[in-house]
Amino acid sequence: MLSWNESSGAAPAVRLAPGLAAVAATGATDLAAERTAAPAGRVRAEDKRIINGHTDVNQLVPLKYKWAWDKYLSACANHWMPQEVNMARDIALWKDPRGLTEDERRIVRRNLGFFVTADSLAANNIVLGTYRHITAPECRQFLLRQAFEEAIHTHAYQYIVESLGLDEAEVFNAYHEVSSIRAKDEFLIPFIDTLTDPAFRTGTAEADQALLRSLIVFACLMEGLFFYVGFTQILALGRQNKMTGAAEQYQYILRDESMHCNFGIDLINQIKLENPHLWSPQFRADVRELFGQAVELEYRYAEDTMPTGVLGLNAPMFKSYLRYIANRRAQQIGVEPLFESADNPFPWMSEMIDLKKERNFFETRVIEYQTGGALSWE
Ligand SMILES: [Fe+2]
Ligand SMILES: [Fe+2]
Repeated sequence: MLSWNESSGAAPAVRLAPGLAAVAATGATDLAAERTAAPAGRVRAEDKRIINGHTDVNQLVPLKYKWAWDKYLSACANHWMPQEVNMARDIALWKDPRGLTEDERRIVRRNLGFFVTADSLAANNIVLGTYRHITAPECRQFLLRQAFEEAIHTHAYQYIVESLGLDEAEVFNAYHEVSSIRAKDEFLIPFIDTLTDPAFRTGTAEADQALLRSLIVFACLMEGLFFYVGFTQILALGRQNKMTGAAEQYQYILRDESMHCNFGIDLINQIKLENPHLWSPQFRADVRELFGQAVELEYRYAEDTMPTGVLGLNAPMFKSYLRYIANRRAQQIGVEPLFESADNPFPWMSEMIDLKKERNFFETRVIEYQTGGALSWE
């Protein structure tokens, strides 16, 4: 129950009951342990922290992390829904026995086999894990938007599976039954489990490093690396005028994921800045080791989806691409590049990420969403 405080000036107009104040300050569910965390007085931007902060998480302003708020606004401006994309040509092509080769069909099935569950993992990681450990409300605001986008992505993959009439049980169980997909998820799950463990608390160097490690794995290796073989394959099909509806959906997803990855990298770098003791030589070495493992796993997935060359793509091209991406992600968080020379064999992928919605690559109809402030009533 709220209790009202009559004092004026810099003191807060509303004092929260102890339990609620604890939630306000930390979002933690262990109220007794956090009861003394809420400071007196109004929130000052300079007191905010990304982790282990003690300012009221219910107060979005004053903003401190403007980059997070700007990314939230950009993400909302990019809103889209799967059912806006016309799948009629994909359906006709898929049903035509001569529409696609067996290799191309395998790519589509394996691809969806990974993605239909990957974005549920991503959503659960945010909602049940990351969110409660982040104490800056503007970052939480982005995470809420991101969680909804992960739901849209799961919806998009399901919509493609349904449109094509694929065997749902086969596709949705691929993460149990296809070893190259299973291996990627098994790599990720311990890092997700760390954050979603109800007993996990930040506040010690060891726990804060565990959080930082999980954030790096999630942003740089899951969203920033594990998605890229799959995105490239479907977008390559689209560039050959095949599966253009699916390719358009993937293009929007790629743009969203690129934003998630960039937000995660900003979050990681800000945590490093505020907590330099976490960024020890041993920690950096551990991170590099994880990058190496992730490149290997994603390469195995590339080989599994493309046992022979198809679409002008082959697995060895992806070796170079994955090294290129891994080096870039490492550099973005201040880790030494892993690979000596790594060229980008798919420069067109960068154009896909940067493409504005109004200039859609496949020139299909796109609905623009406007904010209330931008609507014209004439
Ligand atoms: Fe996603
Ligand atoms: Fe994502």
